[in-house]
This record gives sequence, structure tokens and C-alpha cells, in this order.
Amino acid sequence: MSPRLFTAARTVVPQTSVGLGLTLALGGALILYRMAKNRTTMPGSRDPETTDPALLRNHSEIKSFKAARSGITFPGIRIFYRRHPKADELPKAPAPLPLLVFIHGLGGSVAQFHPLLTSLSNSASCLAIDFPGCGRSQFAPTSWDAYTTENLTDLTETIINDYVEEDQGVVLVAHSMGTAIAADIANKRAAHRLIPPLNVMGVIAICPLSGPPPEAAVRNFRRLLWVPEFVFNLWRAWDRRGGPKSASVKRFVGPGGDLEARELQDRFNSQSRTPVFRRMAWGSLPVYIDGKPTGGLFGKSSWADLDVPIFLIGGHHDTVTPPKEAGKIEEMLRAAANGRISENKHHEAGASYSEGSALGEAAAPVNPSSVPREHLPQSVGEISQDDFARKKASQENGEDSFEDPTTPGDHQEPGSLSYIPSQPIHPRKMVKSALLPAGHALMYTPATVRILAGLYLSREGKWDVKNLAKWKGVQPVSEPIGGVFRALKTLREVDEEHCPKVFAAKWGNEIKDIIDISHADPVYDPQSFGNSIKYHKFPTVSKIPPTDAEVAGFINLVDKVREDQKQRSSSEANWSEDYVIGVHCHYGFNRTGYFVVCYLIERCGYGVQKAISTFAEARPNGIRHSHFLDRLFVRYSGFKE
Ligand SMILES: *[C@@H]1O[C@H](CO)[C@@H](O)[C@H](O)[C@H]1NC(C)=O
Ligand SMILES: *[C@@H]1O[C@H](CO)[C@@H](O)[C@H](O)[C@H]1NC(C)=O
Ligand SMILES: *[C@@H]1O[C@H](CO)[C@@H](O)[C@H](O)[C@H]1NC(C)=O
Ligand SMILES: *[C@@H]1O[C@H](CO)[C@@H](O)[C@H](O)[C@H]1NC(C)=O
Repeated sequence: MSPRLFTAARTVVPQTSVGLGLTLALGGALILYRMAKNRTTMPGSRDPETTDPALLRNHSEIKSFKAARSGITFPGIRIFYRRHPKADELPKAPAPLPLLVFIHGLGGSVAQFHPLLTSLSNSASCLAIDFPGCGRSQFAPTSWDAYTTENLTDLTETIINDYVEEDQGVVLVAHSMGTAIAADIANKRAAHRLIPPLNVMGVIAICPLSGPPPEAAVRNFRRLLWVPEFVFNLWRAWDRRGGPKSASVKRFVGPGGDLEARELQDRFNSQSRTPVFRRMAWGSLPVYIDGKPTGGLFGKSSWADLDVPIFLIGGHHDTVTPPKEAGKIEEMLRAAANGRISENKHHEAGASYSEGSALGEAAAPVNPSSVPREHLPQSVGEISQDDFARKKASQENGEDSFEDPTTPGDHQEPGSLSYIPSQPIHPRKMVKSALLPAGHALMYTPATVRILAGLYLSREGKWDVKNLAKWKGVQPVSEPIGGVFRALKTLREVDEEHCPKVFAAKWGNEIKDIIDISHADPVYDPQSFGNSIKYHKFPTVSKIPPTDAEVAGFINLVDKVREDQKQRSSSEANWSEDYVIGVHCHYGFNRTGYFVVCYLIERCGYGVQKAISTFAEARPNGIRHSHFLDRLFVRYSGFKE
């Protein structure tokens, strides 16, 4: 370091360390700084272009947008847009399926939504945007004005408006700082210039932020953002030493993060560019005038006023936006609803009760999420096709079901609380929240993203009665198979017996690993297995015979797991001599059988018929799907297709 630089560094460093403590108090937001100075120096594994997953790459374009209110032109914004493949066949009246819009946070990118998009792009049309300078978007313009939260909101609205179809509603799925932007877009009382305004049908806020930091913290944060860039980069380098094992990655991923999540986080951290971060962070800070925040991150007013369904999803171990942020938002919504009902008492009774029942929910002391609301969408998945069926059916009944619930129709009995309009065009306010056992990275932590998609966003998380009855009738765990496996049916978090906790207590000494080959659905929290059982996700498609590549992947995974088991068994306590790997799809017969049989043949010296009958003896009646059996014989016949 040259003497001059050194002096410069010395003068700013004390400031930095003062700021450091404060920043951590701020929720660790600043830790988002990444080491990479620009993408040209990034190794291949970090480059946002080359690491962009195929699904995203296939449906993305880089486009120029002129924001409607600010007039700022953003020349190179990356847009992921995938229209639902069946959009044209689905009914358009009274409204098409809503558009899901994904909004990332400070230092984030569209790629963080990839696991969610993989599930959800099958349910609805999806739009996701890399903010300027983030992910694959160009860092242009570079003026600081363009990066204020307000102007980024403006840009987001402009883009959504370009993609939303006639009469189409919008469901916003946002992460971290993006949730503040989502709240503002959803807020009908905000001063939008879009005419007509977007019809926001719901907000899903993942790791939400309730508002701006307090005045003193803002002052110090600002001071910190003045620190010269090279000092920042030094600091980031220090924070990031150790890559996937670094302090910065741990902070995001939380204690239970597996290697895959940590590597992803390390990549995202390195892709975020310091100058962009500085601008976005700066732009999120409000100016305090007489103790009241103005500008910057939207706080109380945006959240409190929302009257659409809201799902708040926090991470229990999230230190960046702690789960209490979600709690604060719930409180604001409740307080606002209380204020409104007392207002209503003084006004006409008609308006009060349609909000009154929503209020009951918002004001409930406990989480009302378990209350079934027949006529309200409970998840994005549900907002989609089911609502069409419902809308269509009620339309056919001649029922006027589409009026605004806040202006109840004449036919309605005053005070009849049972009247709930089946109106999915403007779903009423409701609040649900959930705490997942994860950190700030829960969107792309493999173990939790499944829960997220399954519980909240995907129809596949639901079990109809027929599937449940079938599942209940199936033996949970098979006899040992070839000394390597036991086949299982999927676990369910809500079952009294075949749930992870009870399972771990009963089988934890013997079934030391679980390979879950189901595609997205059945939901349980693998963390509840505790330390004795390791969970591995190996998603495969059901009903069709596994591909050669899938079989190769499975065999490879089992080899690795067995190697690992050998080592663990010699060093860990409580290993039964007969330790095995548990494998499950839904019920643990056809697909599980196919993979297990392939392994027995390729690694344990079984013949095809012998492997098939071994499986069937341990798991009666084994593989039933004749197509699967045929494929097995073909596969091992030596016959080349
Ligand atoms: C992306 O596009 C390529 C070429 O059209 C196709 O082969 C591939 O399956 C697509 N991948 C995804 C995930 O959509
Ligand atoms: C948004 O951008 C416009 C145009 O550059 C600028 O005049 C305005 O101050 C910006 N808004 C904020 C809140 O910074
Ligand atoms: C081993 O098993 C015993 C009894 O099942 C249990 O009390 C103990 O905590 C276990 N030890 C470890 C290290 O899991
Ligand atoms: C396995 O496949 C057979 C034949 O297609 C099917 O009838 C059966 O329901 C499947 N088994 C399970 C448990 O799903």
C-alpha cells in the first residue's frame, strides 16, 4: 500500500469500526457487501451470466425501460418472463390467472428465486426483474438518484405494467428489502401515477422489513456509506474469507445451511457489486425531519394501509431481517384494522362488517393461519386455477360474485357474517405468517425452499383425501433391502407417527440418511430429524420411468452417502450394525423401487430379476408399474436402443 493510501485508510478506519457495530445493530444489512469489484474479474463459477440457470436463461431478455414517474431510462434491465404455457386455454373471464412478480432485495438477484420459479412457473405466468446493476442487469445509469427506493419502485411498476395482461391481477413475491417495494406497489393509498393502478391481489413477503432504521442508525449508516470504496472492498474481503464457510455466508444461511446453500450464498455475495450496493443502501435511507422519516424505505404507512391478502414468511435464524420484523408488520396491520373498525362504528354499518370479519382475523391473538377460509385464496397456487373454477361456477349460477366486498350488495342480509363474496378479483385483506427454521437465505436453501413452495405457494403441498387415505394405508418403513436400503413412504410433518421427530426417535440409530426423490411436494421439515439423520433431496419426476441420467445421479449419490456412513459409523455414537439409507418418493414402491433395483444391480451384483424380487419381498408387492418393470429389463438387457 502506498504511504498516501495508508494515511487515507488510517483516517477512515476508526469511522469504519464505529460504523461496524452500528451496522450490525441495523440488522447486518451492510454485510451484503461483496468482494468482487466487477464481473470481469469474476471466476466462471461466480459470473451471473454463466451461472444463470437454464430455466431463467431460456426465458430472459435484456431490455431498456423508461420509468413512468421519474423519467429515468434504464438501458439494460434483465427480465425473466414466462407466460403460463396454457395461459391461452385457461378462461380469461372475469380475469386471467394472476401474474406472479418476484422482487429481490438489496444485493440480491433473480437467480435467488430460481428454486421457487422452478415450481411456480408451472402454476402461473411469472415475471422477475434484476434491479439495475444486480444479477444480469447493466449497472446503468450510475446516478445515485436512480437507486432510491422510490425510483426503483417506479421502475418496477413500469415493468410490471408492460407485462401484465388485460384485467390480469398481480401477486407480488418479494424478499427482504424488496418487500418494502412490494408493500408500496400494493398500497392503494400510495400516490401512484399508473392509471389504472395495478391490481395487486396479494403480497408474499419473505424475510420482510417493517420499515426504515431509527434516526441515529441512519446517520451512522450514511457516514459509513461515505467510506471510500477500496476500504469497503477490504472489509468485504475480510468478511468473506473462507468462501462458503465465511462469516458473511453464515450470517445469511443460518446455522443449518448445507454446503449447497452456502455455495449459492457465496456466489450471490460475490455477484453483488459494491457501487450498486452503496447506491441502493443509500437510497433506502430516509431523511428524518423533526423525527419523522421521509423518503427511503417505506415504513409503517405502506404496510399498515394494505388491504390485500398478505403472507409473511420469516426465518427463525434470520439475523439480517430478524423474524420480529414480520411480527411488527402484523402488529401494524392489526392496529390499522382496529383504527378502522372504530371509524366504521361512526359511519355506515354496511362497510364495517365486511371489514369486520377480516379484522377478526388480523386482530386474533394467535396466528389465524389454520382457519380455513373457503372463499379466499389461501396460497398463490390456489389463487390460480381453483379460483377460475369457482368464479366460473358462481357465474353460471347467476350469482353476482364479483363485486367489491367493501360495498356489499343489496341482497345481503345485514349482519349476516356468513356472507363472503366469492370474489377473487379483489381478495380481502387477511394476514398469515409463518416462521421457517432457516436464515435469510431460506428462498434458496434447498431444504427450506421446498417447504416454502409446498406450504405456501404450490398446490402440490396439498393432499386430497384420496391421497391421504392411500398414504395412511401404506406400511411406513420396509424391511432392509440388500443391506443398503429401506424403502419408506414420505414423511408428513403433521402425522403423529410418520413425522420426522418420531421417526428419528424410532429409527435414528439405523436409518442414518434419507434420500427424498419426490419432486416438490410432500412437506416435512428435514431439520426435525435432528443430528442423527442426514437428509438428501434428489428430485425426480413421478409416473414416468427415471432417465439414465437420473439413475446415474442416484447411484452416485448413494455411493457418496455410503462412503460418508462408513466414516460416521466409526466415529459417532449410536450406530446400529445394520445401518442403512432410507429412500422415499410418495409411497415408496414404483419410483423408489426402480432406483433401488438399479443400485442393487449396478453396485451389489444382483441380476435384474433377483433385484426386483428382493425389493418386492422387503416391500410387498414391490414395483407394480409394468412400464417401470419393462424399462428395467430393457435397461439391463445389454440391448442398445
Ligand atoms: C432451455 O432451452 C433449451 C433449448 O431450447 C432446452 O433444451 C432446455 O430444456 C431448456 N431448459 C429449461 C430448464 O427450460
Ligand atoms: C427520482 O429520480 C428523479 C429523476 O432523476 C429525481 O429528480 C428524484 O429526486 C428521484 N427521487 C428520489 C426520491 O430520489
Ligand atoms: C444414544 O442413544 C441413547 C439411548 O437411545 C440416548 O440416550 C443418547 O442420547 C444417544 N447418544 C447420542 C450421542 O445421540
Ligand atoms: C405403482 O404403479 C401401479 C401401476 O401403475 C399403480 O397401480 C400403483 O398405484 C402404484 N403404486 C403406488 C403405491 O402408487
